[in-house]
Amino acid sequence: MSRVALVTGGTRGIGAAISIALKGAGYKVAANYAGNDETAKAFESVAGIPVFKWDVSQYSECVDGIAKVEKQLGPVEVLINNAGITRDAMFHKVTPQQWSEVINTNLNGVFNMTHPVWPGMRDRNFGRVITISSINGQKGQMGQVNYSASKAGDLGFTKALAQEGAAKGITVNAICPGYIGTEMVRAIPEKVLNERIVPQIPVGRLGEPEEIARCVVFLASDDAGFITGSTITANGGQFFV
Ligand SMILES: NC(=O)c1ccc[n+]([C@@H]2O[C@H](COP(=O)([O-])OP(=O)(O)OC[C@H]3O[C@@H](n4cnc5c(N)ncnc54)[C@H](OP(=O)(O)O)[C@@H]3O)[C@@H](O)[C@H]2O)c1
Repeated sequence: MSRVALVTGGTRGIGAAISIALKGAGYKVAANYAGNDETAKAFESVAGIPVFKWDVSQYSECVDGIAKVEKQLGPVEVLINNAGITRDAMFHKVTPQQWSEVINTNLNGVFNMTHPVWPGMRDRNFGRVITISSINGQKGQMGQVNYSASKAGDLGFTKALAQEGAAKGITVNAICPGYIGTEMVRAIPEKVLNERIVPQIPVGRLGEPEEIARCVVFLASDDAGFITGSTITANGGQFFV
């Protein structure tokens, strides 16, 4: 029987590519999103993947949303923590609200989603938790102190939880994409992108969402059962850990 995979922020950008790739690999996929109904509904009808709206920064919404997914598709065996936001500003200008929104979505959201599915994974002696962190969580990025802190936190979460899941057949891994051509990156002014960011990428281009999705499909597979607590760095050679 095919496994159930839940992708947060699975209706746009990298998350949409992950949802589609997992469906193609035979999973029953549920795609979560926050509020962009129009895009989500269009994604649902084109991809044939059911969509579920809730805010990953709210624990109770995650519990209720996961219950709906499990009622419709079955127990979540593969969780992809992909939902993420930026609220960029230099540190001396960042507001407490910009700080909290990013931490609540990118770091607390990972807790809020993983904690409710964890007991079931332990009971079934199988699970995959894959979190999309970022190159900027590895190296830090000026103007993104909040984002870098949240994404570095995701890596600590992954390494610690991997140790707890190992004996129960649950692997916990992270992927650190470099700059990928999604709306999040297109929000960066074109001049900054072309003159400052792309020249820092030895491969000479932005990554494609599908290149991250293929990493996810591998980490979710039985073939990746010996890989846990790891970070796959997929950044076109921009930064080596
Ligand atoms: N793009 C890059 O270059 C890059 C590089 C490194 C890491 N990443 C990470 O990769 C992940 C995906 O990035 P992306 O560029 O594909 O982003 P994106 O195009 O902006 O899409 C973000 C997705 O997350 C959802 N989302 C945002 N906040 C949410 C919340 N509170 N609850 C539930 N869903 C929420 C959005 O839902 P709505 O459509 O409803 O808004 C959307 O589906 C993020 O974690 C990001 O930090 C991206």
